[in-house]
Amino acid sequence: MIPFLDLSIRNMERRDAPKIVQMLASQGWVVDERILQPYFNLDLSTSFVAEVEGRVVGCVNSLIYGEVAWLGNLVVAEPLRRRGIGTALTMAAVKACESKGVRSIVLNSVPEAVTLYERTGFRGFVQLERFAGFVERRVGDAERCEVEDLTGLDAKLHGYDRSKVLHSLLDGANVVRCRCGENVGFAAAKMVGSKILVGPILTTQPEERLYLRLLSNVVQPFPKDVHVKLEVPLINPPAMNACATSGLKGTRLNLIMVRGKEIKSDYTRIGAIASDGDLG
Ligand SMILES: CC(C)(COP(=O)(O)OP(=O)(O)OC[C@H]1O[C@@H](n2cnc3c(N)ncnc32)[C@H](O)[C@@H]1OP(=O)(O)O)[C@@H](O)C(=O)NCCC(=O)NCCS
Repeated sequence: MIPFLDLSIRNMERRDAPKIVQMLASQGWVVDERILQPYFNLDLSTSFVAEVEGRVVGCVNSLIYGEVAWLGNLVVAEPLRRRGIGTALTMAAVKACESKGVRSIVLNSVPEAVTLYERTGFRGFVQLERFAGFVERRVGDAERCEVEDLTGLDAKLHGYDRSKVLHSLLDGANVVRCRCGENVGFAAAKMVGSKILVGPILTTQPEERLYLRLLSNVVQPFPKDVHVKLEVPLINPPAMNACATSGLKGTRLNLIMVRGKEIKSDYTRIGAIASDGDLG
């Protein structure tokens, strides 16, 4: 509590959805209400809003997968920033997750939020480059498949099962699978607002030509004049090269951060992460 602000932090409820979408959209982020569906469909007990004088002025979501939780969508209304609300929301989510047995909390931070997260106990884990631009379409090297086809490899590479959230996040996405010899890869993409968001891209072994194939095939059903966006781990050079070769431009570095017990995700075989749009 910060008395002079009359601040309270409470659990997020379904009725908060329109206000939260409005707040995220006010950042100029790629947003539609589907971004909140994984949280609203699954469990809101680790998601919070900040209220000042009864008005929602901030939010944070987190989702639990066994011992690991993912924290995201942290936003505070611009006029009320730098008064500790972001920190209070983060700590509320951290405590709620830990009280449910979570040992590691993972998030994807924009550069501006890294110090806030460091102060609340997170440390850098993997750096991502965000790419944007247009990608040449190709057909024929990949077959369409279902979300459940990639969840097994996703769980293996992340070290925990994200299938519930992937089903929700990738609802309506184009999902493809292709092969280079023994090496198999999967990619998903969907239109959100005026952007095509690509991710996850997962392969049994990192290989530039497989990433290129997946990228050019997964965007194939979408209009050619729409921007493609994806986030690629810097520790995966074949995936970074594939983005550069396909004409995408690096726009920003984000940081995957972890709090608590070390996680074992293998980002050398993750060509792009599953993205919520522009959100951290
Ligand atoms: C990131 C964000 C959520 C932070 O919210 P916030 O309420 O401003 O966060 P806090 O006030 O707890 O901390 C922000 C800074 O204010 C400082 N601060 C906290 N209380 C303060 C006070 N009373 N007086 C002055 N400064 C204060 C903190 O030390 C912190 O500084 P730091 O960034 O150098 O560490 C907010 O800036 C935001 O919504 N940004 C846009 C969305 C976004 O980028 N979200 C993060 C995605 S990963």
